[in-house]
Amino acid sequence: MSVNQPRSPEVYLNLNVRGMGNSATLAINEHSKRLQSEGRQVYRLGLGQSPFPVPGHVRDSLAHNAHQKDYLAVKGLPALREAVVDWVRRTEGLDYAPDNVLVGPGTKELMFLVQLVYYGDLVIPSPSWVSYAPQARIIGRHIHWLRTRPETGLGVEPDALEELCARDPERPRLLILNSPSNPTGLSYSAEQLQALAEVLRKYRVLALSDEIYSGTHYTDGHVSLARYYPEGTIISNGLSKWCGAGGWRLGFFVFPESLSWLADAMAAVASETFTSTSAPIQYAAVSALEDRPEMTSYLQRSRRILAELAGHAHRTLTGAGAVMSPAAGGFYLFPRFEAHRDRLTVRGIDNGRTFCERLLEETGVAVLPGDCFGRPGRELSLRLAIVDFDGEKALTKAADGPVDEAFVKRHCDRVTTAIERMADWAGQ
Ligand SMILES: Cc1ncc(COP(=O)(O)O)c(C=O)c1O
Repeated sequence: MSVNQPRSPEVYLNLNVRGMGNSATLAINEHSKRLQSEGRQVYRLGLGQSPFPVPGHVRDSLAHNAHQKDYLAVKGLPALREAVVDWVRRTEGLDYAPDNVLVGPGTKELMFLVQLVYYGDLVIPSPSWVSYAPQARIIGRHIHWLRTRPETGLGVEPDALEELCARDPERPRLLILNSPSNPTGLSYSAEQLQALAEVLRKYRVLALSDEIYSGTHYTDGHVSLARYYPEGTIISNGLSKWCGAGGWRLGFFVFPESLSWLADAMAAVASETFTSTSAPIQYAAVSALEDRPEMTSYLQRSRRILAELAGHAHRTLTGAGAVMSPAAGGFYLFPRFEAHRDRLTVRGIDNGRTFCERLLEETGVAVLPGDCFGRPGRELSLRLAIVDFDGEKALTKAADGPVDEAFVKRHCDRVTTAIERMADWAGQ
């Protein structure tokens, strides 16, 4: 190499970041693209994006607000914070002050901020959504994965939490509880939340209730942890999932008065980082939270389609010997194929990643292995997202008649075909 050739500064990466990669998701995406470029059909059950369009009245509101160009208050547009508070009162029966709402560019960013600002260990169940643990790692927090059991849907259990907290009762901790869950579809019942609240209260654990899929709960039965542990719970929600607007990047946290110090500290950091969330999007978000018949109809139809599709997937895969809990909300199922281990081992498949790579190569079905969600690499588990269909068309058709098995086979056929292919392939 010539001495005069310019070289970049030495690679002194933050050691918490060094070696990090979005490896499994990227690998599956690249593999999918290669197959598509070879003319193969790929069923996209990997990415967790809403199949449905943003409701028309919310899109109209965005168009009308395209001229909004000013920086807004760090905590968010006052009218939006009022709308959030009204919405939480309507959906959960809980009262909050608009000053204790923090709007951000997606809840993911707010989750990073809360982990940065609050000093404590991160406590999450195995499996959990992909980004909680990497965020803790970047910031340098300890991560504690709670043991879970298939019998209870792989969710947080009071005993596991008690056992952890009793070991060092004064230690500050942040529990993230996601309901309905990505990746399992689990939704916690009022009784389960009550039992968890007792332990959280006993050890004064900070709880982040990630409710981003609340509006997709199949029977509209979502219940917030904040009902049972109001003094220590932050509610996290936004437009990404139930409003189909992931790319709009709008999320919010709602704090009780007892945690206003945390809201203020996060707002201080927000003011030095993202300043405020996109103005037109915040104006449009007000209309997404209003109590309107168009929104009710949109949510009802989306839930019926997702429920029927999740039911179909559950029946088909269970029939083929996979083990999983039925989903109660959201876009996901988390099947495990341990009963197939011997036969799969003969085919050279003895871990989750190989399972997913071979499934993609041999059937065109793209899913994510369980280890992306904190499960052991050896486990034959995976997450599938039942979202590869034309949501706009399905929503329109759902207004005309019943949403049953025949409906999903007709209007969500890429998903139903993919599930059938997966079931046949695993059972070979
Ligand atoms: C469980 C869960 N929480 C939070 C998020 C982040 O959502 P957003 O940053 O779009 O608000 C997602 C997105 O995939 C998710 O699945």
